[in-house]
Amino acid sequence: MKILIIGGGNMGKTYADSFTANKTITKENLYILNHSQEKADYFKMQGFQNSFIAVGDYIREMDLIILAIKPQDAKVFYPVLLPFLKEKQLLLSIMAGVTMQGIEENLSLVRVVRAMPNLPTQIGMGITGFTAAAQVTREELFMIQNLLNTTGKSIYFEDENKLDAVTAISGSGPAYVYYFMESMISTAKDMGFSAAEAELLVEQTFMGAVHLKNIHQLSCAEWIAKVASKGGTTEVALKTFAQFEVKGNIGKGLNNALKRAKELGN
Ligand SMILES: NC(=O)c1ccc[n+]([C@@H]2O[C@H](COP(=O)([O-])OP(=O)(O)OC[C@H]3O[C@@H](n4cnc5c(N)ncnc54)[C@H](OP(=O)(O)O)[C@@H]3O)[C@@H](O)[C@H]2O)c1
Repeated sequence: MKILIIGGGNMGKTYADSFTANKTITKENLYILNHSQEKADYFKMQGFQNSFIAVGDYIREMDLIILAIKPQDAKVFYPVLLPFLKEKQLLLSIMAGVTMQGIEENLSLVRVVRAMPNLPTQIGMGITGFTAAAQVTREELFMIQNLLNTTGKSIYFEDENKLDAVTAISGSGPAYVYYFMESMISTAKDMGFSAAEAELLVEQTFMGAVHLKNIHQLSCAEWIAKVASKGGTTEVALKTFAQFEVKGNIGKGLNNALKRAKELGN
């Protein structure tokens, strides 16, 4: 099997490293196309001998093409790629907001899988939502899921619209977590901790809380009840959050992210 990754940026590099480290494919059979010489050279130095800076006949030999360039770059790139595609070629797109119909209209390919990964894929702890056109076989879908699972976990959705919500929840999600962490770190510094101390206190709190939640199957509300004793400090903080409708406002933010994902898709 031969796979071509188009776009050797954050995600393209993550996929190339992850697929080969997990022995899902050899470096020899993993082709990479990135238009800048610098990145092509980088991949060659990493042992990916089939690293290209331009489209060519080799593209027709590919069993799977992965589109990992930015949606705005794709608009210019579609007509360049089109003449080098073979009929019924299998394509996986991870471009945010680009629908399967959009791919079909621009590349005349119907055998398309669309996925939405997130940043922790870089360390094998990502979550990817994906969907597929009816023309993709079960075997191909499992093959692609095996590839995605080298970067973490994945969930298949029958309904493509769900991918907009995946974008709003887990795609953008790491930024929400960092936002919350940042606000805690900043307040910790105001309380007199050094930057290093504040970061350690907050990072280890997040890490510990998430691991605890993963190991013991209690709900968030049950875990909150274990920390927040009556009349204590946590209760005061939570009451303040409730007073300012923090939960509702987080929901509003996420819903606006969903709205934006839909707009970008159109
Ligand atoms: N990063 C994430 O967390 C994340 C999550 C979900 C989905 N995605 C999606 O994944 C895609 C890639 O994101 P990214 O963060 O990896 O972006 P990125 O780091 O900017 O990578 C894009 C790569 O594509 C290359 N490129 C652009 N136009 C090209 C062309 N015509 N031919 C060949 N290569 C070309 C760029 O090369 P140069 O830098 O040399 O110009 C760059 O290396 C996007 O569509 C994004 O929506 C990203």
